[in-house]
Amino acid sequence: MIPEIDIRTVDINELQKVFTTGTNLTGTNCALLTGFLNDEQKLLLDRWYASMVEFYKQDSSIKAQTPYRIEDHVGYKQMSRDRFFIERFLYYPSRMTDNDWPESLDKNLATKIVSICDDLTFRILALLDQMIGSGTTLVDAHKPSLNTSGLLYYPAYRGPLYKEDYRHGVHADYNLFTLFWQIPSPYTDITGLEVKDLVGKWHKVQRKEYGVTLCFANALEYWSNNFFKSTPHRVTNDAIEFPRYTMTHYIAPRAGTVLENLSDYNRGNDLVLSGGGKFAADREPLVTSWQSMRAINSGWKG
Ligand SMILES: [Fe+2]
Repeated sequence: MIPEIDIRTVDINELQKVFTTGTNLTGTNCALLTGFLNDEQKLLLDRWYASMVEFYKQDSSIKAQTPYRIEDHVGYKQMSRDRFFIERFLYYPSRMTDNDWPESLDKNLATKIVSICDDLTFRILALLDQMIGSGTTLVDAHKPSLNTSGLLYYPAYRGPLYKEDYRHGVHADYNLFTLFWQIPSPYTDITGLEVKDLVGKWHKVQRKEYGVTLCFANALEYWSNNFFKSTPHRVTNDAIEFPRYTMTHYIAPRAGTVLENLSDYNRGNDLVLSGGGKFAADREPLVTSWQSMRAINSGWKG
């Protein structure tokens, strides 16, 4: 279980206890956010989830008609993760043309979903600014942003399994933070998502319909001099006989943002990231692009 935080009544002290290395070394560093969707928005999320299921039912040749484009980090791709296959469709309307949209995914609905995600994102960024005392730096760095939304599909599997056969092995994300939606699934109530806390203990993420799991990622850890730590996560093989669908939102500041000393925490010390990456105290400021943020991940071990 991870802490549940109602975004309508959130208290900044409560957040500090969960998330900041400066005040609490036993925090889970991850939370389940609730209480921000109205009934109309829940219906939109349900419709989008149903569209995703229909999209992934299609033949590979149809899905491959809108392939992943690395320059804008959008599109469809099939890849292997550990022993299993995963498919994903990444999207963000302002970086896409009409040709980038599969016929079975409604661009107008996607745009509404991204607005819901970005609205929640700005509320979180404002809270992080408040926690770290950085004014409106984080909020401003995302106007505009390099945010990306994702539809992830893990096909059902019925073959032999081994003990450490994770459906998606341990890793942390490259960006600032990631939101994982929990939409009612027709297949199983098991999420399979597990997160690692600041003292190395793993926690199962509980099911809470229309909740969002918030995990920090490596660029925020780097930018804040380790004040915020990224959240290693993995997906277990529980309920692997069912298909698994995930809706994600990856938050990243616009290209050209300088990631340097967002806080005075740990300033002047060499930086050892939770994944094992090392940076000297006098490191060059990191200027964001898709490539430079991914470079923070190099050497990440989990
Ligand atoms: Fe991830």
